[in-house]
Amino acid sequence: MDTELSEKIDKVAGLIAKSQRLVIFTGAGVSTESGIPDFRGPGGLWTRFDPDDFTIDRFLSNLECRRKQWYIFREGILGHKASPNAAHIAIAELYRMGRLDCVITQNIDGLHQRAGLPDEIVFELHGNMRWAVCLDCGRRYPFEEVKRRLDAGEEIPACSPCRGVIKPDVVMFGEQLPYDVLEEAGRRSRRADVFIVIGSTLVVYPAAYMPMYAVQSGARLVIINLGETPMDKLATVLISGKAGETMSAIVQKVKEKLDSR
Ligand code: APR
Ligand code: ZN
Repeated sequence: MDTELSEKIDKVAGLIAKSQRLVIFTGAGVSTESGIPDFRGPGGLWTRFDPDDFTIDRFLSNLECRRKQWYIFREGILGHKASPNAAHIAIAELYRMGRLDCVITQNIDGLHQRAGLPDEIVFELHGNMRWAVCLDCGRRYPFEEVKRRLDAGEEIPACSPCRGVIKPDVVMFGEQLPYDVLEEAGRRSRRADVFIVIGSTLVVYPAAYMPMYAVQSGARLVIINLGETPMDKLATVLISGKAGETMSAIVQKVKEKLDSR
């Protein structure tokens, strides 16, 4: 590891070791090492599909867009037998060490919880894929059931009893974010003393307000991302590195610091 990187790793580990309220904010870049494509990185979903096709209006009004959205859900999230990667595992380790206040994530893949974080400290700003709901009669479907139907070739799953439109519990472009989740995520961001962004371009709002709230309240901002973000200049430490190996090295260093106390 080059000297500059090891100094940065050491500095972030020092911030974490001394922090009282560490908040970690993740984007799609934390899940690419689990095989789930991101959106704006090289080969990301928005380099292959038009995001304008992925609004709630198009999902409701245009059958071809709805088919494409289900394809993306299937490919982007469900198609891969995704499991937590080293970054998710390192973050869960910080929780087990009593070092983590919460994770605020833009991701809908549920990998933070599968790595061991309890639901109550994971704030999913854009919803998740665990359930789908019929927009006509309100019937709820566990995603395993919807996935079985997708796997059986049903390109646009419809509600069994009423043939209504089924929609996953994710926030599509043009939809409001879940109010209570957004409120609590904002509150946690404002009271954080260290705020670490991992794998996000920080271009989608209101999610991207979170790191700004943290900095405005005096938190030290760390950004770990392959590629630039508009908030790089606000960061105390900026690491252009892969999430998995970077977070593993940081957590290892935190352990050394805590053991040597
Ligand atoms: N390690 C570190 N960074 C990575 C890795 C990795 N292994 N893989 C990808 N990245 C970086 C990419 O280079 C990119 O800069 O992570 C960033 C991911 O950015 P986006 O694809 O824009 O994802 P995100 O910021 O989460 O997008 C926010 O946009 O389309 C909407 O709702 C969608 O939640 C999503 C939101
Ligand atoms: Zn129905």
